[in-house]
Amino acid sequence: MANIIDGKAVAADLRRNVTTAVSALKSAYGYAPTLAVILVGEDPASQVYVRSKHKFTKQAGMGSVAHKLPEDVDEQTLIDLIKTLNTDADVDGILVQLPLPSHIDTQRVIGVIDPAKDVDGLTEISAGRLSLGRPGLRPCTPEGCVILAKSALEKGDSLSGKHCVIVGRSILVGKPAAFLFLEQNCTVTIAHSRTKNLADVCRSADILVAAVGRPLMIKGGWVKKGAIVIDVGINRVANNTPRAKRKTKLVGDVDFEAATKYAMAITPVPGGVGPMTIACLLRNTVLAACARRNMTISQKL
Ligand SMILES: NC(=O)c1ccc[n+]([C@@H]2O[C@H](COP(=O)([O-])OP(=O)(O)OC[C@H]3O[C@@H](n4cnc5c(N)ncnc54)[C@H](OP(=O)(O)O)[C@@H]3O)[C@@H](O)[C@H]2O)c1
Repeated sequence: MANIIDGKAVAADLRRNVTTAVSALKSAYGYAPTLAVILVGEDPASQVYVRSKHKFTKQAGMGSVAHKLPEDVDEQTLIDLIKTLNTDADVDGILVQLPLPSHIDTQRVIGVIDPAKDVDGLTEISAGRLSLGRPGLRPCTPEGCVILAKSALEKGDSLSGKHCVIVGRSILVGKPAAFLFLEQNCTVTIAHSRTKNLADVCRSADILVAAVGRPLMIKGGWVKKGAIVIDVGINRVANNTPRAKRKTKLVGDVDFEAATKYAMAITPVPGGVGPMTIACLLRNTVLAACARRNMTISQKL
């Protein structure tokens, strides 16, 4: 049976380190970093994420500012707000909650964020630095995947030389995850909707990252014996459990029950990658503040 990777616990550890770093910055410089989050519209899932981000940012001792704009806001108003936050000396990180309404060009909006404050790591500058292997702010969810994969290794083992298969090639998850696992010296394969023999490709993975958005698509038999499985997918499906309190439930892209019979370790959904995304966001906010304000912290984040 596979070990279940406790994303909540790993994320709590990282948030504790962030909290310690923030109090060190307060003592040394009298300064606490601030994260600004922009939410457009009333999407219930996005509202939950923004509330969690606010809660955990405050808990870490940082400043948290939320800007809520109506669903029908015009693109220029959103861009103007980002430009104001870019020049606000007290704001260290800017995050635009995705997805944006369809009348807004997401790439154009993200492109306005000052790369020094790009704590979601999604601007072209951040993506370019990642692909060139230069230091920079890394996208939070893929960074969380790497941390969880490392946490599942046996003592003394490393990711170096392992074959990492990433199913999904989105700008948000799949592509940056590929570069991040490459930075760890993995041999990386990116699979997508046109990949042939996907089951065989998955079976060749020591580390299997699923970022597709299709409930339970990766079958148990697609998992190599002893692999580490990182399930990024968050899919809401009908809850057919008899006498279930809720009509729907969240599942990942991997058939979790079946995969536990093959994997050495696997992340659950919920409670796996999800909590890491916020923890990595908090870390990025501290790193962005340190870089921009020329502050140093002694401990490694
Ligand atoms: N845990 C978190 O914090 C977090 C954060 C972000 C996203 N997510 C979740 O992660 C999942 C993926 O998100 P995303 O933004 O990357 O999604 P996305 O932009 O829709 O990308 C999905 C990717 O999956 C590939 N794909 C679709 N069907 C496939 C199939 N049958 N076989 C192989 N590949 C297939 C697509 O290939 P093509 O490129 O060929 O179309 C695409 O590259 C979603 O469930 C999302 O909710 C979770």
